[in-house]
Amino acid sequence: MTSGKRSRFLAWPLACGIALGLTGCGGPVEDTRPGQPVKTRQEAFKAMLRSFEPMGVMLRTDTYDAEKFARHAAELMQWRDTPWPLFGPDTHYPPSKAKATVWSQTEAFERERQAFVAALDELAAAVQRGEREAVRKAYFRVYDLCESCHKDFKER
Ligand code: HEC
Repeated sequence: MTSGKRSRFLAWPLACGIALGLTGCGGPVEDTRPGQPVKTRQEAFKAMLRSFEPMGVMLRTDTYDAEKFARHAAELMQWRDTPWPLFGPDTHYPPSKAKATVWSQTEAFERERQAFVAALDELAAAVQRGEREAVRKAYFRVYDLCESCHKDFKER
């Protein structure tokens, strides 16, 4: 138990060095709550980013591959509903990067969430139809919604 803790602690600077510049490095704060709501919702967001980013690269660098794009979109959709129920009352504690506004402006947060879900559905539909211009539009609409929600509800 103790030695496990220590080795995890020692391993941190290494993991941190690798992660630096990508996610920043907040320190070895662990989510020790039952069910780990903060960690679990963060993992869900990270998983979204892992699918979402390569899609953007394809669109920005003109390397669009419909099949690959559709695969990433399907992965992204799998995470669509995961984070939200994990923002329960009393889940604003380290290592959360959420702003207190998530809990003080619940209606605005819910509006952002709904707009995001709708935009993702639109993206999935465009991918399904195979309409590249519609895909591009829908992708950047989703992108804007990631940004706008983070601006109001997530610490930088
Ligand atoms: C409706 C609001 C909302 C939307 C939409 C949203 N996010 Fe977030 N995101 C948050 C909040 C709040 C957090 C902070 C969670 C925490 O740490 O408790 C967060 C955290 C993150 C993190 C950080 C995870 C970590 O621990 O480092 C990533 C990455 C992320 N979001 C990516 C995305 C991407 C990509 C999209 C769009 C595809 C997106 N988010 C859409 C609210 C949102």
